Amino acid sequence: MEFVGSHVLSVDQFDRGAIQRIFAVADEMAPYARRERITRVLEGAILSNMFFEPSTRTRISFGCAFNMLGGEVRETTELKSSALAKGESLQDTARVLSGYSDVIVMRHYEAGSVAEFARASRVPVLNAGDGPNEHPSQALLDLYTIRKELKSRDRGVDGLRIALVGDLKYGRAVHSLCKLLALYDNVHYKLVAPPELGLPGSIVDELRSAGHVVSEYSQLQPGIDHVDILYVTRTQEERFPSQAEADRYRGLFRLNQAIYTQHCEPNTVIMHPLPRDSRAQAQELDDDLIEHPNLAIFRQTDNGILVRMALFALVMGVADRVHEYARPVTWATTRRFA
Ligand code: NCD
Repeated sequence: MEFVGSHVLSVDQFDRGAIQRIFAVADEMAPYARRERITRVLEGAILSNMFFEPSTRTRISFGCAFNMLGGEVRETTELKSSALAKGESLQDTARVLSGYSDVIVMRHYEAGSVAEFARASRVPVLNAGDGPNEHPSQALLDLYTIRKELKSRDRGVDGLRIALVGDLKYGRAVHSLCKLLALYDNVHYKLVAPPELGLPGSIVDELRSAGHVVSEYSQLQPGIDHVDILYVTRTQEERFPSQAEADRYRGLFRLNQAIYTQHCEPNTVIMHPLPRDSRAQAQELDDDLIEHPNLAIFRQTDNGILVRMALFALVMGVADRVHEYARPVTWATTRRFA
């Protein structure tokens, strides 16, 4: 895959070679993400970070990743404060913004909108989530995390057993992750969801025709035994036709220390794209697991910086020059990593 100048819209555009390249560059970013060194390799470059849906970690980590490469960030965080609220088309917004910036990150509530925007953009566009469709950078950071966690257990991704729990219908992070994992060999997907919130049939078909095993469960316990990775997700309430309908699924599956200890293998890694819903009636991932060494959720968020730095470096053609523009930090590094 040619990265320089490319959009990143869907995990469909990656093969295993491209993933290896992204992860090799991500590994190189560790000293910068840890603030041991700084690099100015993207000095003068401007990122437009456009988020038309709520976000904390994706928006801020894309912005920080760009800053950590020496670039500058301009942000729009609400549709109502952009000209889209005045009826401007996505295409016109793209034509304008691509005159102001060198790369654009966009999140939007409609499936396909980021691709539509990208078609009119003169600079690379990275999809930070388009409605219930895809979230490619999340899937890459999840896969990067899975690979790292398994490596510390002397395992690779081939032969992976993963349980995906929750709202698999609307969860775009799940959609992208499932498709990305399908590039590996002999994956066993255990899908745990109420029948109405199952993984879209087109994705299930895609996984099966790539030779993987897909099993479906409507109960938590039988779905989470014998897996390497337990990937828990939130009910995507904002995508339901009504709040009343979303409320029917609130708190349906809850993973806590007792259930984990009783039903999971001792090495099972717990992941979640976050945010987890910590309201009393929801709590799909209980806080009583917070000290558990297998809880990888904040290792995921830390890894997100590495992967997003790698995407920018590759798309902007500086992946091999990051260290040339680097020096040690002059201030005390106060940061601790998960
Ligand atoms: C996810 C998303 O926005 O799709 N969040 C994220 O970017 N880490 C998952 C979610 O919102 O539940």
